[in-house]
Amino acid sequence: MTIRLGDTAPDFEQDSTEGRIHFHQWLGNSWGVLFSHPADFTPVCTTELGLTAKLKAEFELRNVKVLALSVDSVDKHHQWIDDINDTQNTTVNFPILADPDRKVSELYDMIHPNANATLTVRSLFIIDPQKKVRLIITYPASTGRNFNEILRVIDSLQLTDNEKVATPGNWQAGDRVVIVPSIQDEAELAARFPQGYDAVRPYLRFTDLH
Ligand code: BEZ
Repeated sequence: MTIRLGDTAPDFEQDSTEGRIHFHQWLGNSWGVLFSHPADFTPVCTTELGLTAKLKAEFELRNVKVLALSVDSVDKHHQWIDDINDTQNTTVNFPILADPDRKVSELYDMIHPNANATLTVRSLFIIDPQKKVRLIITYPASTGRNFNEILRVIDSLQLTDNEKVATPGNWQAGDRVVIVPSIQDEAELAARFPQGYDAVRPYLRFTDLH
């Protein structure tokens, strides 16, 4: 199944290390990060899950629930979690979906047969409270993801959902933002951005929201 930005995230029911998960119901009114791992007891995945556990407070601050997936069983996941906790000096504090039947992996197109016939690649989806897919990234098995970048994208999405702005390249929370080109009316600009803005070009206008 091809999933594109703006699509409703496919719903599913599957077992996890924290019991059966009915995905949409589990998300509730939160944002969600669903991310796949090629297999249990693999080195890169172990570091990724440790990092995610350590970022719990950052995800909570942004009203985000995280859900990992690996194609192994719940029993194997529990054994792996002991190892993650031990080697990464943390406590895994989010569920890991078991997907031995590849149901969710296939639903989210996480298996790329020309990369590996049976294991998932490193897919990651950010889903908003309306259950719409807002970011899709796909990394190869050999490259661990940057979870600070995931938080940065969530900050951008949450900011730009509420203001008529977009975030420039390499933007970090607190940096200047750009005013969307669709706003040209002077009165609207003055009302929305009383702090003013810097028009480098008519289409390239920076403003400071702080
Ligand atoms: C890993 O998580 O370390 C990994 C998994 C599959 C292939 C290569 C690396």
